Amino acid sequence: MKNIRFNNVTAKYSNGEGIEIANFDIKQGEFVFLSGPSGAGKTTILKLILMTLFPNRGSVEVGNFNSQTIHTKEIPLLRRQLGCVFQDFRLLDDRNVYENIAFVLRITGHREKYIKRRTFKMLAEVGLSHKRNQMPSQLSGGEQQRIAIARAMANDPFIVLADEPTGNLDPETSSGILDLFKVINERGTAVLMATHNRNLIDTFSYRTLQLQHGRIIG
Ligand SMILES: Nc1ncnc2c1ncn2[C@@H]1O[C@H](COP(=O)(O)OP(=O)(O)OP(=O)(O)O)[C@@H](O)[C@H]1O
Ligand SMILES: [Mg+2]
Repeated sequence: MKNIRFNNVTAKYSNGEGIEIANFDIKQGEFVFLSGPSGAGKTTILKLILMTLFPNRGSVEVGNFNSQTIHTKEIPLLRRQLGCVFQDFRLLDDRNVYENIAFVLRITGHREKYIKRRTFKMLAEVGLSHKRNQMPSQLSGGEQQRIAIARAMANDPFIVLADEPTGNLDPETSSGILDLFKVINERGTAVLMATHNRNLIDTFSYRTLQLQHGRIIG
């Protein structure tokens, strides 16, 4: 099973800030919101899952990997099973839309024929096949985020981690992005989304983990 589990995790930065999370799970295929004010620890939780940050105490299990036993050389393998979407899109500005998706498949070592088929499929799923030759700067924010989502899904992750993915978008565009995550989730991919956006949380009634000062309060 591809679950995520936090076991009595304490994770502190050198200044003493951080999180303390007793127990928390994301089951295979689940959709979970992470909410809470700025500084509550949402991004810190995502970093622990990505293993760019390790707990000082306790452990984080991500699929078959455990933060206490994972080897440095296994970390790329772990990251390939995770999709990431950020508030600021993080597309490569010097490559067109097609190449922004294709390059992650090249890193994974796929053949060009598969890369082309898969990239076209991803573009179709986010409704932007017709933009494939454009540069990211020629797209709207909502379109850029759709491309970032297509890129995150290219390697067929078991979970997508989204850090405030609608933070730079207007309400209507945000709602469209949430609809896209909903479809992704209905096809079986788990979603963990950090957001401040009360509206989205209320509209989409998924399980919500409420954080404050680095702790789960609800
Ligand atoms: N690299 C770092 N070094 C030191 N402290 C950090 C670092 N990153 C985050 N923190 C601190 O850890 C706490 C949690 O930060 P985190 O980034 O997880 O919050 P957040 O919920 O994602 O906030 P936001 O909604 O503003 O993105 C905050 O007090 C923050 O100042
Ligand atoms: Mg954050």
